[in-house]
Amino acid sequence: MIEEIEGKIKEVLNFSSNSSEEIEKFRIEFLGKKGHISRYFSEFKNVDNSQKKEYGLAINKLKSSTLEKIELLKKTVSKISEGQSDDVDLTRPASIIELGSRHPISIIRDKIIDIFYKIGFNISEGPEIEDDWHNFTALNLPPHHPARDMQDTFFIKKDPDLLLRTHTSSVQIRHMENNEPPIRTISPGRVYRNEDISARSHCFFHQIEGLYIDENVSFADLKQTLLFFTKELFGKSKIRLRPSYFPFTEPSAEVDIYWGLNSETDYRITKGTGWLEIMGCGMVDPNVLENCKIDSNKFSGFAFGMGIERIAMLLYQIEDIRILYENDIRFNSQFKDSI
Ligand code: PHE
Repeated sequence: MIEEIEGKIKEVLNFSSNSSEEIEKFRIEFLGKKGHISRYFSEFKNVDNSQKKEYGLAINKLKSSTLEKIELLKKTVSKISEGQSDDVDLTRPASIIELGSRHPISIIRDKIIDIFYKIGFNISEGPEIEDDWHNFTALNLPPHHPARDMQDTFFIKKDPDLLLRTHTSSVQIRHMENNEPPIRTISPGRVYRNEDISARSHCFFHQIEGLYIDENVSFADLKQTLLFFTKELFGKSKIRLRPSYFPFTEPSAEVDIYWGLNSETDYRITKGTGWLEIMGCGMVDPNVLENCKIDSNKFSGFAFGMGIERIAMLLYQIEDIRILYENDIRFNSQFKDSI
């Protein structure tokens, strides 16, 4: 009897079919009420005691092999009916996998980070939702200071104020609060301003600000650092600093690079002067250092800040800032080579 069951196991293992009807017939033949398996089970009581164990093992094996086989064949049948046969046409050309590209803002941000990284700056980040202290007061902009109007702010909540940061200078305050000089850090991130959306400005954009605090840091250090940066990023070696005003730096300056006047576009974007403004900078106001518990008699430093969109627009000759946020694949996919 055991030999007979083993024969059936072989039969099961060898069975194959693509037809649902045949599989069902096979199922009934083995697992049906009057099928082989139930017949072998009912024979069990007649088996000699010495053989019961071996006999039991054999029917269980027959049953599990039958169940496995049926499941496998049913799966194959349903794959075939869904058109995913395992028979692969190896001569068929592979479908083309479209490679993604990085966004121009990310590309420029990373280029700027790489340049400052080379000269020892680390990266610091902070929250986009800020409190009044980090965005304004600690930066020498006490409540009611008129210069607060320079940055049209989106407020989330009044008293205590919660707002969308208007610049990443807030991150520099956080960094100074938590680190001792020497400090060399750049803070990239998104900022928000309540401005009308046009080809030139948007209500959110990205900045990178830099901060350097140590003993004996001078304005000459600031200028050399910025010169190194503009040479690396733009390949331009002429810059000029124009006096300006920021509440958190004293003295403050606006940085222009000499772009040149080689084409009609150069005339247009530089308004015929050849010079382009690219960032603000200055020596950190001692009040700001004191607000962050840094001894302003011992330490001094410089800070600078620039808009990433503006630089991306210059380097890629993009005319309208809005296209940077539309995620139009025809635009975005043009930056594949710059990765
Ligand atoms: N925080 C200034 C802005 O957003 C930029 C800046 C940073 C200027 C550091 C000077 C020094 O406009």
